[in-house]
Amino acid sequence: MGLLEKAQENEEEFLSNKRKKQRTAKRYQDDQSPIETYRIISYEKTIEQQRSLLEKARQQQMQSGETSQSSPTLGLEQQTTQASTGVILEFQNKKIEIIEEQTGFGWKKQGTKRIIYDHTNHEFIFEVIEPQIKDEEKQTKDEISHLFKMLADINTFDITYEEKEKFLEETIEHIISDNHIYVDEASKDTIFYYIFRDFLGYGRIDILMHDDGIEDISCVGPDTPIFIHHRKYEAIETNIHFGSEPELNAFLVRLCQISGKQISIFAPIVDGKLPDGSRLQATLARTVTKGSTFTIRKFKEIPLTPIDLIEYKSMSTEMAAYFWMAIEDGASILFCGGTASGKTTALNALMLFIPSSHKIISIEDTREVNIPHKNWIAGTTRKGFAASDANKTGKDIDMFDLIRAALRQRPRVIIVGEVRGKEAYSLFQAMATGHTAYATVHASTIHTLIQRLENPPIELPRALLTSLDVIVFQNAVDIGGKMVRRMTSVTEIIKLDTDTNQLIFMAPYTWLSKTDDNFESAGSSKILNRIKQQNDWTDEQLIQELNNRILVLEWMRRKKIKSYKKFGSIIEEYKKFPERILERVARDAEE
Ligand SMILES: Nc1ncnc2c1ncn2[C@@H]1O[C@H](COP(=O)(O)OP(=O)(O)O)[C@@H](O)[C@H]1O
Ligand SMILES: [Mg+2]
Repeated sequence: MGLLEKAQENEEEFLSNKRKKQRTAKRYQDDQSPIETYRIISYEKTIEQQRSLLEKARQQQMQSGETSQSSPTLGLEQQTTQASTGVILEFQNKKIEIIEEQTGFGWKKQGTKRIIYDHTNHEFIFEVIEPQIKDEEKQTKDEISHLFKMLADINTFDITYEEKEKFLEETIEHIISDNHIYVDEASKDTIFYYIFRDFLGYGRIDILMHDDGIEDISCVGPDTPIFIHHRKYEAIETNIHFGSEPELNAFLVRLCQISGKQISIFAPIVDGKLPDGSRLQATLARTVTKGSTFTIRKFKEIPLTPIDLIEYKSMSTEMAAYFWMAIEDGASILFCGGTASGKTTALNALMLFIPSSHKIISIEDTREVNIPHKNWIAGTTRKGFAASDANKTGKDIDMFDLIRAALRQRPRVIIVGEVRGKEAYSLFQAMATGHTAYATVHASTIHTLIQRLENPPIELPRALLTSLDVIVFQNAVDIGGKMVRRMTSVTEIIKLDTDTNQLIFMAPYTWLSKTDDNFESAGSSKILNRIKQQNDWTDEQLIQELNNRILVLEWMRRKKIKSYKKFGSIIEEYKKFPERILERVARDAEE
């Protein structure tokens, strides 16, 4: 299909969507949630899909000869035991197979985690096995915990983990001897295990929090199992649950506290960041949801780079080269998609293409943006005690305030984590006045995106939309029973047709389909054309430049240059001395 037809088709689609707009306007208002609610992407998996995952897990186990890696928890080394894969154990009328098993968590390494496959129900289960605690031991533990809370009113933020551990151990020993609490030698380790887990760790979910294979942890209320999304096994159930509402609420209060937030009936929704950088979303029972809920999105210590995205086939190398040129040239980009479609990840990875000297200001509700640039100011919003906009006090600083403040600091680039409200207007104004902006928006199609931008609370005039250059759509798609992320389209805004008041788009790159898991290039782009004109290049020169960058990216991929610092330094060097890098690439190719 030619480029022109494509643009026309897009326009037609937009027109027909526009007609539908009136009809859907009402519905849109309903699902326009003020905050993005997180949900573990779960879909009905067929037995076949489960079996194929099982086969894959078995094969991986055979090849690697070891089980999953994970970061040390509670400062202790874990022992990994080789699971006897393929061996099906029968117990309690169930046929189970242990896929992975790892032990050595917590106090005296008493905790174990394992992933089992239940052959009766055809599902994976994540099991956490902790020492059994008897009723009288639990009473003793509660008594000590209570005394500890009364006693230990010190600020422990600035001390290291080891110091905290030592402090806790000494204090507990004191409490036991000072209060003449009788602790049976045999029970001591069990009691200590739970005290340490609850005070220094993440309580019931501590072992989950230390598993790198887990992406999300979610709980939809008491008496239902906690679900996780695992990199290898996807959405799976765990054997952990909270027994009662008060217990779950107490846990939520603590999670919010350590995130520096407060949850209460006055502020029943909390969006925070846990000390390890994970994102927390919590709601309190009977206010906004039936039971209390929480979702934790585990923090990825090492941000993905464009090389990772290419490896995961989330975008093609050519697309990465295109973004490299576009971002260097100051194109503004919006990353759109559904929940957990990979918007923030794509934004973060592509930000590595921003020239290193540019002054960048990022604005977010919770810190997620992580870039190596030195000239970067990271801002986060702050919620005071106001429940509504009208009651906003001096303590509340929202995105709108931050963007206004940011503009006065004369940045080249503004990054906004997630645009939801009226701050989008300021962001587009910033773009219109020559700033480069990057942001993520929750919208799955161009139609919903534009509707969202043009309707309250944003109410953007259509003309302002043209200051945006590119819209990237991210999607989580299920290919052969596996959830993968794809950049399904890269769309450029060409112009606003003043006669018809319609926006004209063009899509330089489109993802084909599940069966043909590749990207199609339209062979032309407004931005590349602009770059060509600015540099006074011929078509051949433009293609040469794009190809050079493809070569550099492929070279980095072969060389496994994945650390984001190293990646950034190569981008920087290429900007200053492209021939140097190209020579190195050529030299390595000869060898
Ligand atoms: N291209 C990708 N390939 C593999 N995993 C990805 C990719 N993009 C994101 N992820 C993973 O998906 C989860 C959600 O990604 P995130 O960027 O936070 O989504 P969003 O911002 O759209 O809600 C994270 O755990 C992240 O590591
Ligand atoms: Mg996000």
